[in-house]
Amino acid sequence: MKKVLFVTSEAHPLIKTGGLADVSGSLPKALAEQGADIRIIMPNYQAIKTTEAVYYKSTLQLVNAEVNILETRLPDSDVVVWLVDYPALFAYPGNPYVDGQGVTRAHSAERFALFCRIAVEVAMNRGYLDWQPDIVHCNDWQSGLVPALLSLEPARPATVFTIHNMAYQGLFPKTILATLDLPKVLWHSNGIEFNDMLSFLKSGLAYSDRLTTVSPTYADEIQTVEFGYGLAGLLTYRKSVLSGIINGIDTQTWNPETDPNLSENFNASTLNKKRVNKMALQRRLSLPENENIPVFALISRLVEQKGIDLLLNCLPDMLDLPLQLVVIGRGDAGFERQLTGFAQAHPDKIAVTIGYDEPLAHLAEAGADVFLMPSRFEPCGLNQLYSQRYGTLPIVRKTGGLADTVVDTLPETLADNTATGFVFNAASAGALMEAIKRALFVYSQPEAWRQLQRNAMQTDYSWHKSALQYLSLYEQL
Ligand code: ADP
Ligand code: GLC
Repeated sequence: MKKVLFVTSEAHPLIKTGGLADVSGSLPKALAEQGADIRIIMPNYQAIKTTEAVYYKSTLQLVNAEVNILETRLPDSDVVVWLVDYPALFAYPGNPYVDGQGVTRAHSAERFALFCRIAVEVAMNRGYLDWQPDIVHCNDWQSGLVPALLSLEPARPATVFTIHNMAYQGLFPKTILATLDLPKVLWHSNGIEFNDMLSFLKSGLAYSDRLTTVSPTYADEIQTVEFGYGLAGLLTYRKSVLSGIINGIDTQTWNPETDPNLSENFNASTLNKKRVNKMALQRRLSLPENENIPVFALISRLVEQKGIDLLLNCLPDMLDLPLQLVVIGRGDAGFERQLTGFAQAHPDKIAVTIGYDEPLAHLAEAGADVFLMPSRFEPCGLNQLYSQRYGTLPIVRKTGGLADTVVDTLPETLADNTATGFVFNAASAGALMEAIKRALFVYSQPEAWRQLQRNAMQTDYSWHKSALQYLSLYEQL
């Protein structure tokens, strides 16, 4: 069985800013269950939280840095996690990438370049860990230099690079090259250089043996100018090694039958209990308690990707409809301000929680009737999957993984019990509003709604199938 080094900048529950952490905390477990010998390597941020013991493992001497490797495990699993410990660059509280004001942290290039160098040493079995992987599986720009640096090693493991989001590229001015002391042979237009800047993402895309992204539709989309951020040409050129593998979910963490954050647990045959969670959610957020009114939820990073502006443009019309809206998120200060303004003006209809609150996110998934994901683009998206598992029907825009995982409610999909939500096309408030009205119409027919909930809850979104696809990709290398 293959030995895999999984290189990532976040993994749930150690540290999480978004879906990458969910994937890094669950895919390695699924791969290990299928027999892979997989180890995670990630930075040792001060904000890391774990219930597992953390041990000192080894010390590596780079040209101008002495770096420790610590070892722990992914909670509730045997998956080994190696933490790259270098306090001068990683000992700060909070989010790994941005400070409390949402501003990108200084020295990001230095931090993730050092992380990549250590990952390369470990991949080459020069980390005193007595373990040599067959495959190095990198994720997003923070690990992008790994395939480039490995390409210079004569006997190296094979490399896989998974794109979770093309919008974040790790772009830095050319002058950083001297600081990072990167090999000059990598600096050219087919290498790590992108428009005269250093691109960590392009480095991963150019040098990896295989590229994957987190849904088949996004794999196609990123080969177009609209979604490719200037890299569509490179991706099209490399399309024979590029594939889309849809994300699974951690079915233990997101299980309505056992979730400790719920007011009452439920399953597809006890859907009535969702109401208890709805009332608990309303109480918690000081919304009028009413088990009959449909509750819409949005839980998200509040950034342009997520179509927050579409929702803001719908809010005046939504106020006239019989519904309540729950928003949990943080991000762009302008979006935060506008959403909070609406909530303050209409406290009986809209509750906005600015912040990151995982237990509340679970309760909202359980208590809401409808989940909103009007994303402008969405490589995979996980909340539409969690929602389906909790019998909360998603309204999604037809893009990326949303298009691949939600079946629109139409006469034929209602008839054959495949419908699981509501899908709209145009990135416009009008199109979103129409989908909201369609959902309200079906909600007013309890029998049909119940059937949609059952369809959604019965769909298998576990990692099983996708983990097998990754394993077969590893086998090909
Ligand atoms: P992305 O990775 O682009 O942010 P995903 O849908 O893949 O989008 O994953 C987002 C993850 O982050 C989900 O697990 C979601 O529940 C969680 N999340 C996002 N914002 C918040 C928040 N404010 N509070 C709690 N969880 C959040
Ligand atoms: C990214 C994407 C999201 C995806 C997640 C995990 O953050 O924005 O769509 O689900 O990565 O792959």
